[in-house]
Parts: sequence; structure tokens; C-alpha cells
Amino acid sequence: MDIERIRRETPGIGGPVHLLACGSALMPQPVVDAIVEHIQLEARIGGYEAHAAQDALLERVYDSTARHIGAKRHEIALLENATVAWCHAFYALPLEPGARILTCEAEYAANYVAMLQRAKREGLVIEVIPSDASGALDLGALEAAMGPDVGLIAITWVPTNGGLVNPAEGVGRIARAHGVPYLLDACQAAGQIKIDVAVLGCDFLSATGRKFLRGPRGTGFLYVAEKWLETIEPAMIDFYGAPWVARDRYALRADARRFETWENAYALRAGLGAAFDYADAIGIEAIEARVKDLAGVARGALDAVPGVEVRDLGAERCGIVSFSVEGGDAEALTAQMADAGYMIGTSGPGNTRIDAERRDLPVMLRMAPHYFNTEAEVIGAVRALEGMV
Ligand SMILES: Cc1ncc(COP(=O)(O)O)c(C=O)c1O
Repeated sequence: MDIERIRRETPGIGGPVHLLACGSALMPQPVVDAIVEHIQLEARIGGYEAHAAQDALLERVYDSTARHIGAKRHEIALLENATVAWCHAFYALPLEPGARILTCEAEYAANYVAMLQRAKREGLVIEVIPSDASGALDLGALEAAMGPDVGLIAITWVPTNGGLVNPAEGVGRIARAHGVPYLLDACQAAGQIKIDVAVLGCDFLSATGRKFLRGPRGTGFLYVAEKWLETIEPAMIDFYGAPWVARDRYALRADARRFETWENAYALRAGLGAAFDYADAIGIEAIEARVKDLAGVARGALDAVPGVEVRDLGAERCGIVSFSVEGGDAEALTAQMADAGYMIGTSGPGNTRIDAERRDLPVMLRMAPHYFNTEAEVIGAVRALEGMV
């Protein structure tokens, strides 16, 4: 990996050290260029005209997304964020009253509240599968929980609050063996871990553009496995996803774009396509290895600081490093770190309530180096923190 070139192509390098890819990572220049070029074209010739002129490029975003996750282009819907993508799949899935939704302890708040809403409205049951000794979803417990009343397995692959990597592939094997739909939140995995939907065995997968993918804010996507395109009806449609073909009838689009609506931020979409292409030109395996290395350096250095406790779970750990400081106020420390030139963040119990309550977690600090960071930056951040605690 040519780190020097990658850093030259990242306009944010030279400013504060950004160590929060799990929040919203620094975009590389080609992503910024794709967005700005489209916006400038809109300014010069008009929004609809720019769309028409850039149609081929904008269509290629579906190819880039599909290639990155091992899907087919008609299985991709481009949406405004991961939550919208996840909710589109979730609310479209028919579930009988009494059906059980199996989820994990690390499940993300946005997903969980949607489950609570459907549980309340439709008499569904949410069942949280316990974690194993390492803190990852326990596949044995999941297998044991399976039964004819399980309507859906919905889990988070990489949680927002730490370095855990749940066994998404193992969950897929169980889901397939039991013929149960599997919705995978890959929001924090996308851009730092290789995604192959065939290997994962998921029916639906949602992710965002702005985190490890280094795309712009306001972008996300949903993967819908081909077999679902015959039957799945979005909970909300418009005449793009479902053209009004007769006065009393609409016809759902044949592809996953039935989940999209007519109006979109095409400049951002162009940026998302550039982000996929940028990541794939570097290679996701190399990205994953470097991110894991840098996160390992961060954990090692943090572990050595008195009063700091690294809180990451799981045998396999990714690029999100979570920790707490004895007697320290996470928000205040984050502000102090920003003043010192290091951008890190926090994650509060309300983001992952089940895990937070189980482990009695405080508001934690989060540091998430990306491949464009250096070991010196990571160590520099830890040294700066050491001086504050
Ligand atoms: C695990 C996880 N899932 C989903 C989301 C939601 O993503 P978005 O804000 O793009 O809707 C996040 C955001 O932090 C996340 O960490």
C-alpha cells in the first residue's frame, strides 16, 4: 500500500489527526472531485440535465457497489444512509404475530427501536441471543434458539461501540439451514472488512458510505438477494420504485431499486461510486490488514496507560477501539483531545443498550484509525491522552 500517495490524496491530512473512521472518515480527493464535478455541472446546466449528462457514470455506481460486495447490480438499492437501507428491508418483511426476531447483544439502537415498534404493533417477540465467552454472538445459542416461529435473524456484524466482529458468516449458515431470512447490518464493516454476500449467506445487507468506505455523508445502500425480488414489497413506495401503470395499479420494479424514490442527491451518489472504486483500487484485504494492525497498536498503547481500560470484545477485533478512563469524563476528554489536534469520539450506552447494560458500560471513548493513518499518529494520540488522565 502506497501510504504516502494515499495521504497526499487525502485533503484532510495535515489538519487535525483524524482517528474516527467509525464516525465519518476523511474522504479521498477522487471522492471530493466526483461530488464537486457533479455539483458544478448541476450549477452550469441544471440538475436534471446534469443527471442526464452523467447517466452512464451514475449507473456505474450500482456496478461498483455490487462488485465491492460480490452482488449483482440489480440487487442494489442506493439510499441516503444505512438506517434507511436497514429499515426498508426490515419493514418490508412480512412477519406473523408471535414470530420471533433473533438479534445480538451488540445490536445498534436504530435497528432495535424499529424492532420494538414492530413488536408493539404486530405482536412480535424480540429475542437477544447471548454472547459467548469472547463477547461475540454465540452460534451455539443461536442454533439452539431456532424453531418454526423464528421469522427473522437480524444482527450487527461490527457494532458501533467497539472492535468486536460478530460471526456473520456462521449466522448465515444457520439462517440458510433453517430457511430463515437474514438481515445483516454491515454499516461498520463496509470499507474495513471484505464483504462477500455469497459467503455471508445474508438475504439483506445494509451499510453507509461515510464511515470506513470514506464516501460522503448522506449515502448508503441496501443489498437485496435476487430471490427476494420476486416477492418483497417495500413498506413505502413511490412511482420510481413502483411505476403507476394504470389508474388503479402500480407495478413494482423488477430490481432492488423498488426501495428507492425518484429524487436523489446525485452528486453524493457519484462520490459514493468513487469511494468504492478507491477502496477496491487499494484492495480491501490490504485495507483490513492495515486497519487491524493500527487498531492493535492503539490497544497495546492504551493498555499501558494507567487508568485506561480497553473495552473491546471478541477474539477477532477490527478497527474500532473502545476504552474508558477511570474517573474521566469521555465527552470532556474528547474535547481536550480535539484541542490537542486528535479527533476521536465517544459512544454512549444508548447506542448499544443491551451490551452497555450487560457490561455496565459508561460513555466510552472511541478511536478508529483507518489505513491512511500512521502508527506515529496513533501513538501520538495515546501519548496526548496519557497527559490528560
Ligand atoms: C452498527 C451501525 N449500524 C447502523 C448505523 C447507522 O448508520 P447511518 O447513520 O448511516 O444510518 C451505524 C451508525 O453509526 C452503526 O454504527
